[in-house]
Formats: sequence, C-alpha cells, structure tokens
Amino acid sequence: MIFKISLSALLISSFLFATQDMKKWLRPLEVPQPMDNKLTSERVELGKLLYFDARLSSSEQFSCATCHSPKRGWTDLEPVSKALGAGRGPRNSPTILNAGYQNRQFWDGRVKTLEEQALGPIEADVEMNMPLDELIAKLDKIDGYVKLFNQAYPSEGGITKITLAKAIASFERTVVSTIAPFDKYAMGDKKAISKKAVAGFDLFKGKAHCMDCHDNFNFSNGSFHNIGLNDGELQGKELGRYLTKQRAAWYGAFKTPTLRDVTKSAPYFHDGSVKTLEEATSICSSGGRYANGVKNKSTFMLDRKLSQTEIDKIVSFLKTLEGPDMKLEVPSKFPQ
Ligand code: HEC
Ligand code: HEC
Repeated sequence: MIFKISLSALLISSFLFATQDMKKWLRPLEVPQPMDNKLTSERVELGKLLYFDARLSSSEQFSCATCHSPKRGWTDLEPVSKALGAGRGPRNSPTILNAGYQNRQFWDGRVKTLEEQALGPIEADVEMNMPLDELIAKLDKIDGYVKLFNQAYPSEGGITKITLAKAIASFERTVVSTIAPFDKYAMGDKKAISKKAVAGFDLFKGKAHCMDCHDNFNFSNGSFHNIGLNDGELQGKELGRYLTKQRAAWYGAFKTPTLRDVTKSAPYFHDGSVKTLEEATSICSSGGRYANGVKNKSTFMLDRKLSQTEIDKIVSFLKTLEGPDMKLEVPSKFPQ
C-alpha cells in the first residue's frame, strides 16, 4: 500500500484556486521520496517508533525527539545542543519540519538525504553515543523490531544500517507543515491574515529583500549564505559550509532555514544567539550583525533601512506561518 500524507480536502481543492503567483507558497502535496524507499505505512510506523525510542542511545536516555521534539517545534529550544563532531562548533538543533523537502541536510549541508543523515547522530559521542554495530545487535534481540523490519522491508536483510536509516527517514518525511493562516491567505482567503501581516508580506518580498533567500513554500532557497552574524575572521571555528569543502564562497556560510512554524523554534540562527523574531528580522534586514569587515558576507545582505514599524509588520507576517501542530500519536509503548 502506498502511503499518502493525509491532507484535508480543503487544501487539495484550494490549490486549484490559488493564483499562479501564489502557488509557489503552498506546500507540494507529495514529499520527494527515493526510488528505493517509497513511503508505506509500515515504514512510517516503524520509523516513528525508532525516532522516539531512547534505547537507540547508549545511556537509553536520548532519542531523536530529545533534540527534535514535536512539542518544541521539532527542536529542543536550547541555544545549542552539545557540540557535534570535532571541528564543528556547537550548533542549534534545527527543526526537522519539512526536512524531507530539503536538498541538503545540516546547517552546512554536509549530507544530502535523510537516509544519509539519520545514522550520524546515533554514533556521535555527544549525541546518542551508540556504535551502530552494537545498536543493530541490540535491536536484533528485540523480537518486536525484527518482525516490524521484516514487514516494512521484506527481503532487505532484516535490521541493517540501511534499513534502520530508511525507516527513520520515512517517518521524517511525514513531518510536514500544516495549513497556516498564511496558506489560507495564499489560497485566496484575503481575510485569513491581518492587514499588518499583508503589509509585512509585501515588505518581505519587496523592500526588505527577505525573499532573495527565504523563497518558495518552505521559505528557503536551499542555499548557503554568510549573513554576517560573526565578526570578521571566524577563528577556525564556525566556518559553516566551508568545513565541507574549502571554497571561498562558502566561508562562514550556513543554510537558509525554513521560516515555517518559526514562532515555535526559538532561539534562532545556527548558534542560537538570538531569542526573538524582532531581533532576527532586524539583523537580516540591516546588513547582518556586523556591517563591515566580515569576510565573504553575502552581497544580498544590505542595510534595507527599515523602520521599527516595518520590522513589526514583517514579524506579524512571520507569525502567520505558524500552523496547528500536525496530528501525531507519540508512541507510549515500544516493541519488546
Ligand atoms: C543531542 C541532540 C541531538 C540528537 C539526539 C539528534 N539530533 Fe539531529 N541535530 C542536532 C543538531 C545540533 C543538528 C544540527 C547540526 C549541524 O547542522 O551541524 C541536527 C541536525 C539534524 C537534521 C538536519 C536538519 C536540517 O534542516 O538540516 C536532521 C534531519 C536531524 N538532525 C535528525 C535527527 C534524527 C533522525 C535523530 C535521531 C537518530 C537526531 N537528529 C538526533 C541535534 C540532535
Ligand atoms: C542572504 C540571504 C538572506 C536574506 C536576504 C535573509 N535571510 Fe534570513 N537567514 C538566512 C540564513 C543563511 C540564515 C541562517 C544563518 C545562520 O544561522 O548563520 C537566516 C536565518 C533567519 C532566521 C532565523 C531562523 C531560524 O530558525 O534560526 C529568521 C527569522 C530570518 N532569517 C528571517 C529573515 C527575514 C525576516 C529577512 C528579511 C528582512 C531575511 N531573513 C533575509 C539568509 C537570509
């Protein structure tokens, strides 16, 4: 059975009514899926159990949901999670909302797919600290899991690194944004958001140039930019995408994050250094935190000379991107 992410009839029919220029702001109904890991309900259900199961960590106290919790905007609401692997500074835990639509994962985009991403945190000593070989042996002793893996991935060799990653990725692909007031507006309900928010949306697309980077339904161009959060030379620490490949254009550049449900995932930026949307908007519209002397600052980062009222309007627009939490039954019992 092919699994379809359930969408209200409202969205499907309204899609047809949205005008051409507004369509790009609406989430495509189907989330991209690799040929060898199409969504099925068995895979999603198994992935969900794994995602919430703290037995995947060596202390049995951390699950993926510890740092990406559905109750906390799929993040941990901490400025930074404990440091990741050597060479990368401590980073803010990003939301996994709509991660299935992203071409690159992590702030520095070091992996492409959710499958590639999933195994990293399990082994990372500062996250779940669980060698994969040990984990596979451990899961193999849990009959309930053996059965579920065989049902979800028949004839793929039972519980392996590959099927483990595939299952977790399948669940993540179902973590998608719901219909926010802004979407109703984009579908033609002009009263769905306030006049102030409409003015904010116009500034977002126009004078403030936010759309140069925060574009399309997920409010991200999927690209990497140095927005001048740090002063000048970065002391070899937070070099962002430059850590994956030493290209001048990537010095201090980080992925443009989604702005969907952004109200739920403070604090902001890769270093969690900003608490409010007002401050984030102000930094992003005034040429970065540091105006001068920042090596490789994006040429899109200019002082747009916004008044406080204009910043307030943009923030009021950003708040309309908050949708209701998706329907989700968090597992309370795990396979034995
Ligand atoms: C200790 C906290 C912690 C745990 C546990 C954890 N993560 Fe993360 N996760 C992070 C941080 C921090 C980042 C950002 C790291 C970076 O960009 O270098 C991240 C990044 C991600 C991303 C990339 C999102 C994006 O937009 O780029 C995904 C997807 C993800 N984690 C999924 C998972 C899954 C699945 C698990 C469980 C197997 C997991 N995480 C466990 C902290 C955690
Ligand atoms: C040059 C591209 C670019 C432009 C223009 C831009 N942003 Fe950003 N924005 C980014 C990047 C990249 C980040 C993450 C940077 C980091 O953490 O190092 C970001 C982060 C943010 C965040 C924090 C989100 C989070 O989850 O951490 C908010 C909010 C935000 N931008 C809003 C805006 C607004 C509002 C505007 C217009 C005033 C704007 N941005 C203009 C690229 C841009």
